[in-house]
Amino acid sequence: MARLLVTGGAGFIGSNFVRFWRERHRADELLVLDAMTYAGNAASLDGVEGINLVEGDIRDGNLVGSLLRERNIDTIVHFAAESHVDRSILGPDAFIDTNIVGTHELLKQAKAFWLDQGSGRDHRFHHVSTDEVYGTLGGEDPAFSETTAYAPNSPYAASKAASDHLVRAYHHTYGLAVTTSNCSNNYGPYQFPEKLIPLFIINALHGRSLPIYGDGMQIRDWLYVEDHCRGIELVLERGKIGECYNIGGGAELANVEVIDTLCRSIDALFADVPALAERFPDAPAARGQDTSQLKTYVTDRPGHDRRYAIDERKIRSELGYVPSREFESWFDHTMRWYVENETWWSAVLDGSYRNWVAANYASR
Ligand code: NAD
Ligand code: DAU
Repeated sequence: MARLLVTGGAGFIGSNFVRFWRERHRADELLVLDAMTYAGNAASLDGVEGINLVEGDIRDGNLVGSLLRERNIDTIVHFAAESHVDRSILGPDAFIDTNIVGTHELLKQAKAFWLDQGSGRDHRFHHVSTDEVYGTLGGEDPAFSETTAYAPNSPYAASKAASDHLVRAYHHTYGLAVTTSNCSNNYGPYQFPEKLIPLFIINALHGRSLPIYGDGMQIRDWLYVEDHCRGIELVLERGKIGECYNIGGGAELANVEVIDTLCRSIDALFADVPALAERFPDAPAARGQDTSQLKTYVTDRPGHDRRYAIDERKIRSELGYVPSREFESWFDHTMRWYVENETWWSAVLDGSYRNWVAANYASR
C-alpha cells in the first residue's frame, strides 16, 4: 500500500488523476492538498471515495511538513501550479510564487522528512511538467525529446522550467528520489473553461464568438487526460529515479483543425438530440445553423509558440506507454461530457473567474 500526497488534486489533471488512481489502487491512501484557487474545485472530486482533501498552499512549509509526517506519506505527485499561459502574460508573479517558490518548498519539506529525518526510506517525488519548457518548433523540426534544450518562451513556461531544474538539483545534490514527466496539451472532463477546448465548447453552446488567436495555424499535440494519468502511473511504477519522460497524445493538430472538429461535432449532436435546442437556444446549432459562423480571428497571443510535438519513444520503449484511442473518439467523449455536465461548469464559471476576466480582459 502506498500513501500518496497529490498536490493540485482539485484541478483539471489532478482530479482526473485522483479518480484514476482510486479506481486502480483501491488500498492506497490518497491525500489531496489544494489551495482552491479559481482553478481548484472540490466538485471535481465529487463521488471519489476514500480521499482526504486539505485546503492549503504548497508554499506553507509548516503545513506540508506536518502532512508528510502525520500521514506518513511515501509518494508525492505534484500537479499544483498556475497553468494558464494567457494569465502568465497578464500577471506573472503568481506563476513565480506557486510554480517556483511553491515547488521548492515542497522539495525542502520532502527532503527534510524523507532524507534528513527519515534515514533514506523508500520515497518518490513525481513532478508533473510541460512540453512548453522546450519552447517552439518549426514545421519541419524534430519533435521534443528528453534531450531537447530548454527554451521557454512565456512566463508560465519559464516558471515550469525553473521548477524542473530545482527537482533535478534535489536529486543530484541530495539524492531525493525524483521523476519528472513533460506532457503536451491535455483535454478531457473537468478542465477549467479558459483553455481552448472547454472554452470553445461552452461558447458554442451559448452562441458566443470563438476567438482564434492569430491565423489559428499553431500546432499542439493533443493528449487525452486519462492517457496522461496512465503515463504518470507507468513512471511511478517503472520509471527510473532521476529520469524525465515525455508524454504525448500522438495527435498533432492545428488549432483550426481542432476548432472545425468541435464545430462539426456540436452541429451533429444538436441534430441527433433535438432537446438540446431548448437547453441552449442561443447556439447557432439550435436553429439548424453552422457553429462555425462563431469563428472570429483575433489579435495573437504575445510570444505565441507555433508548434509543440512530443517524441515519446523513451516512455514507449522503456515503460510500454501507448495512447489509448484516436483524437476524434476522445474529443467526442469530452464534448458530450461538457454538454451533460452544465451544472459543473456553470458553478465554476459563476465564481471568481468571471470577475477576473472582467477585470483583465475588458479592455482587450
Ligand atoms: P489547473 O490550473 O486546472 O489546476 C491547478 C491546481 O493547482 C488547482 O486545483 C489549484 O487550486 C491548485 N493550486 C494552484 N496554486 C496552488 C498552491 N500554491 N498550492 C496548492 N494548490 C495550488 O492545472 P492543470 O491543467 O490540471 O495542470 C496540472 C499540472 O500539469 C500543472 O503543473 C501544469 O503545469 C501541468 N501541465 C498541464 C497541461 C495541460 O494541458 N493542462 C499540460 C502539461 C502540463
Ligand atoms: O503544452 C502543454 C500546455 O498546454 C500546458 O503546459 C498548459 O498548462 C496548458 O494551458 C496548455 O497551454 P496552451 O497555451 O497550449 O493551451 P490553451 O488551451 O491556452 O491554448 C491552446 C491553443 O489555442 C494555443 O495555440 C492558443 C490557442 N487559443 C487559446 C485560447 C484560450 C486560441 O486561439 N484562442 C483562445 O481563446
